[in-house]
Amino acid sequence: MSASTEVPATGERGADGWVNPLRDPQDRRLPRIAGPCGLVIFGVTGDLSRKKLMPAIYDLANRGLLPPGFALVGFARRDWADEDFSEVVHDAVRAHSRTPFRQEVWNKLAQGFRFVQGSFDDDAAFDRLEQTVADLDRVRGTNGNHAFYLSIPPGAFPVVCKQLARSGLSAQHGEQWRRVVIEKPFGHDLRSAMELNAIVNEVFPEESVFRIDHYLGKETVQNVLALRFANQLFEPIWNSHYVDHVQITMAEDIGLGGRAGYYDGIGAARDVIQNHLLQLLAFTAMEEPTSFSAAELRTEKIKILNAVTLTGPFEETTARGQYTGGWQGGQLVRGLKEEAGFDPSSKTETFAAITCEVNTRRWAGVPFYLRTGKRLGRRVTEIAVIFKRAPHLPFDATMTEELGQNALVVRVQPDEGVTMRFGSKVPGSQMEVRDVTMDFGYGTAFTEASPEAYERLILDMLLGEPSLFPVNREVELAWRILDPVLAHWAAQEDGPDPYHAGTWGPDSANRMMARTGRVWRRP
Ligand code: BG6
Repeated sequence: MSASTEVPATGERGADGWVNPLRDPQDRRLPRIAGPCGLVIFGVTGDLSRKKLMPAIYDLANRGLLPPGFALVGFARRDWADEDFSEVVHDAVRAHSRTPFRQEVWNKLAQGFRFVQGSFDDDAAFDRLEQTVADLDRVRGTNGNHAFYLSIPPGAFPVVCKQLARSGLSAQHGEQWRRVVIEKPFGHDLRSAMELNAIVNEVFPEESVFRIDHYLGKETVQNVLALRFANQLFEPIWNSHYVDHVQITMAEDIGLGGRAGYYDGIGAARDVIQNHLLQLLAFTAMEEPTSFSAAELRTEKIKILNAVTLTGPFEETTARGQYTGGWQGGQLVRGLKEEAGFDPSSKTETFAAITCEVNTRRWAGVPFYLRTGKRLGRRVTEIAVIFKRAPHLPFDATMTEELGQNALVVRVQPDEGVTMRFGSKVPGSQMEVRDVTMDFGYGTAFTEASPEAYERLILDMLLGEPSLFPVNREVELAWRILDPVLAHWAAQEDGPDPYHAGTWGPDSANRMMARTGRVWRRP
């Protein structure tokens, strides 16, 4: 069931009466616009809401992808009137939106803003919210279609879900829909994730639950599927006969100042590997789905996550670190233990690396190395598929001294694109082969800019298009993979290995690769 409408052609009226003046009737590539609906955000005063959600909503409106009567309701404890809320959204949009500010778009959008004051245990506040939503149906024509975005700590999911059920807000009547959007962390281990899923599913059926992993909203991540399955070139060599190993890196140069409340006790593995990196692994390793329907895509992802296990012994095959103060980009920065709000004896890891194996015929024997960290050398996310050396080199050893292994690198961000590395003859009278690269860059190949991940995901959710949202089985499988190493680290007396800010992590991460004669890439 989806309340989506095709974008009407020029001069035609859409189902909701809106006329799209720009649409070329021949152009089937334009995205669909959401049908009549509204979005309620819990945790509306938080960082995510201001930096990502509000700007994404404005950008969608600016691109003509929201219905004309769209409504945005904020729910929080602050003593705000609708106008105060509107001002907060305005500031967030001006500071963080991707597309230019257009007063006429803003004016129309802001007419649908409402604010409801209250705390999560306040029945009266949820009754007021129910009233507000019903009013919006009358005044804005939202038609009973509403999504609830839980941008709140998971500890608050149970009470909010219960309130949504008690006040009747979660009830779907007839063709109307009610959906819930949840942000990670989905639990802190398999058991807590299962408990959380059960609580959410008690109120919302699984098809109404949209779990956000914003990496799936990134163009470059979706491009992994295009690269693999739309081309003939790569798939024949995408297996253990040709691939030596895969490195998936998400490195950030920022520290954790201001995020202690969320991060201390959570750490890099739960924050990033459990979700983003295991999803990247799934996209890289999965079999071709029979179609790109959500069901087929998820079937293949689930199959591959089911086949992933960690390689041991963990003392040698994993690494964890914590940044200490140092010079980074010409600035002296603090170590984690000195960051505001962190326990000075914190054992929270800010760097984590693991070795995975994928137990399928395609991937048997090919290690998948996953690493992530804060305060590393620079911000970069990439998937590097490193190929085996040619079985025979008909050259003198000296001629190929500077030849490395062939590689295909998906540059997820920044500088989005794909790099291929291979050997080439150096000009001159000698036969000397050296590594060169061939690059595809989004910035030069396409004129249109990529939408922000949250734009894509919020729109898909409003359209009821579930492909880019992990189902609870995926979340649980990811915890099943990670739990053993989390338990192993928790049992160690020593904390994570220290590494200086601005470097590429602790020495143990290099040893972890050296044990099999490999090295991490320096992106
Ligand atoms: C979030 C993590 O999911 O992703 C953050 O919780 C991290 O710790 C962020 O900084 C990075 O997102 P992006 O899109 O900038 O790579």
